[in-house]
Amino acid sequence: MLETRAVYPGSFDPITNGHVDIIERGLRVFNRIIVAVLENPKKRPLFTTKERVRMIQDIFASKKEVEVRAFDGLLVDFARARGTHVVIRGLRAISDFEYEFQMALMNRSLAPDIETFFMMPSVNYSFLSSNLVREVAALGGSVEGLVPEPVARKLGDKVNRPKKVQNP
Ligand code: PNS
Repeated sequence: MLETRAVYPGSFDPITNGHVDIIERGLRVFNRIIVAVLENPKKRPLFTTKERVRMIQDIFASKKEVEVRAFDGLLVDFARARGTHVVIRGLRAISDFEYEFQMALMNRSLAPDIETFFMMPSVNYSFLSSNLVREVAALGGSVEGLVPEPVARKLGDKVNRPKKVQNP
């Protein structure tokens, strides 16, 4: 059986150019990529689930092959519900390996019919993470070239939003 669609899950808080690169590479292999945005209130993300989904939808507005969905619960259940047996994860460096290895094997133990495919982003993005992007933006650094332009603007809005003055 040939798979034509794959799920690409993550927190995407926010999506970076590294994620965009993985999605574009994924489209060379699969007809459809379902970007699955984790809805996890415990993680207290900078961007709401709705904002994260909307940003990714806007970036890929011209690509009908990219579908963006929020998900909660088990990833393998989401993948099955969307009719795919393939999960894509990006691997940047050896440091990613242990966490990714654990997750892939846990997912396999939960759902032996689902395979995880690892893809390497362009070397230009091998240092890039959403955590670092958030930190740089919060400290006033430039995130140009690290995230798509609309994301950079939204990050600016978030981190520069004036604090509400407390009434005495
Ligand atoms: O971008 P992230 O934060 O590294 O993505 C992590 C993600 C969303 C892939 C992972 O947390 C996940 O799959 N969460 C869903 C819950 C789940 O299925 N857990 C068991 C498998 S380890």
